[in-house]
Amino acid sequence: MRLVERSDALTSFHGCALVPTMGALHEGHASLIRRAAAVPDGRPTVATIFVNPTQFGPREDFAKYPRTLEADLRLAEAAGADAVFLPDVATIYPGGLDTARREADAWTLPAIATEPRLEDAARPGHFGGVCQVVARLFELCKPATAHFGQKDYQQLRVITEMVRCGGGRWGSLRISADPTVREPDGLAMSSRNRYLSAERRDTALGVYRALQMAMSAQRPATAEALMHETLEQHGFEVDYAVVRDAHTLMPVTGLETPCRALVAARLPEVRLIDNMAMPVWR
Ligand code: PAJ
Repeated sequence: MRLVERSDALTSFHGCALVPTMGALHEGHASLIRRAAAVPDGRPTVATIFVNPTQFGPREDFAKYPRTLEADLRLAEAAGADAVFLPDVATIYPGGLDTARREADAWTLPAIATEPRLEDAARPGHFGGVCQVVARLFELCKPATAHFGQKDYQQLRVITEMVRCGGGRWGSLRISADPTVREPDGLAMSSRNRYLSAERRDTALGVYRALQMAMSAQRPATAEALMHETLEQHGFEVDYAVVRDAHTLMPVTGLETPCRALVAARLPEVRLIDNMAMPVWR
């Protein structure tokens, strides 16, 4: 596996299958890399590791975000990556970080990054930074395919829309929507699970339990009430616990079309997000 730090060393990877990450890699990331590497088209699989400052709010965890490079490289190699791109801030943002922050704030976003009032409302400015860094990684790596996890469902939809509306800016780039990998008990894997103490690890399972409760409901309103109840029983502060149209992420009144249950909830030391596809009732 090659380590690439400078963008001019990337030309041999143009047309690759790309897996963008912020590191602190776990089985969820590994599964994205394995899925990218499993396509028998001879294209190289490139994982990127860059903790992107412009997508973190001023009171968020950028400074303490886990950085575990040696273990990340072992995991990426074992999962089948041909290369890992480890850019520094100057490679991603040649105009400097202050300019980059201003550009992220002014980024033209697809409606799905501003209208659903989910992560967009809870983390103002977040999707500007995500789109900015992902667009830059696409520009540098020129992938044929890029893999994103359904775990961050609104992010996946935002990036899919950004590419669809991009007027061919990234050629015929395809976005692969890869399934969420969970711990054996159901907790969705996340780099931020490292913030959980052993005691809170059990509490965290409340997010999965809330989503499972939602699955049994026949109406969005019932599902939402069940999720709130479960999360509050576990001691969470709920940012949102909703059922939305799986494509637009806007509110729905029934479950006759594909819908998604989405949760964001906070414990004192960590904010967890997760989601699941609702069964369709016809
Ligand atoms: P990060 O949180 O490192 O996640 C990188 C990719 O892994 C994302 O596409 C995310 O959805 C996926 N992922 C995380 N946990 C997963 C799980 N349990 N199962 C399946 N996939 C999972 O998301 C980001 O980084 C950043 O915002 C990024 C897109 C890299 C831009 O900076």
